[in-house]
Amino acid sequence: MDLQIKKWIGNADQYYRENDVIDTYTIQQLLGEGRYGIVYLAVDGENNQYVVKQLKKDMMKKSGNKLFYEEMVLRKLQHPCFPKFISNFKDGTREGYILEYMEGEVFEDILQKEGHQFSREEIYEICGQLLDIIEVLHGCGIVHRDIRLPNVIRKDNKELSLIDFGLARIMRPDYYTKESDYWYIGDFLIHLYYSTYQKVSRIDKPWFKELDLNPEEKVFLRKLMGIEKTYGSIAEIRQQLDKVKKGN
Ligand SMILES: Nc1ncnc2c1ncn2[C@@H]1O[C@H](COP(=O)(O)OP(=O)(O)O)[C@@H](O)[C@H]1O
Ligand SMILES: [Mg+2]
Repeated sequence: MDLQIKKWIGNADQYYRENDVIDTYTIQQLLGEGRYGIVYLAVDGENNQYVVKQLKKDMMKKSGNKLFYEEMVLRKLQHPCFPKFISNFKDGTREGYILEYMEGEVFEDILQKEGHQFSREEIYEICGQLLDIIEVLHGCGIVHRDIRLPNVIRKDNKELSLIDFGLARIMRPDYYTKESDYWYIGDFLIHLYYSTYQKVSRIDKPWFKELDLNPEEKVFLRKLMGIEKTYGSIAEIRQQLDKVKKGN
């Protein structure tokens, strides 16, 4: 066989299939896939649901032991908004971990598959929940650094959970800062605002010119995004969110 092909096959991730067994967990279906992981829904002998996150080989090579931050961080966090870390597995050349299954749908699917249009009230409510979650996280000295649509899940009862701690790190004033999560919250909300945006001109404009925002909202998002001096604390962000709500 061509050496190049052999090398490629050696590097390719071998996916699990339905009914494959890892330790005591039986794979049911593929749930999602990101840059670092291939994620499946699995059940144990008593039909309890879990998540199997198989780490991508390429990423294991590139990131080395940095991938294990996710384990360290999730073991430290014990809160219903974050998945519990259950265990590690190593299965031949495949490895990863077992996590608590967080029920619901990721925002990426709510937007793209369902085409849901978020009202202002919904956006403010989601923002309030994100602030509560990030406050817990920052209170534990951790920054997430990847609060994006595929990494936030919404349950049927509208409660949110935050997943994917692959880029999460212990906070450091000079490097891993709380402001990076403020930026992500701003970016996340802007995506929700765009769900009701109707393009009126062919000329691309920045979001703060395109979106129909009240003056407090404009300041709010510009500060979160660091275009204007950002907030000093979550409490300060909450105060501004209250002003935004009153402005509508
Ligand atoms: N604990 C979980 N519960 C439910 N779904 C999950 C869970 N973890 C991951 N997923 C699903 O799998 C996808 C990829 O997982 P993620 O941890 O974000 O991997 P990556 O680090 O590669 O981005 C997510 O976008 C989500 O759809
Ligand atoms: Mg992800």
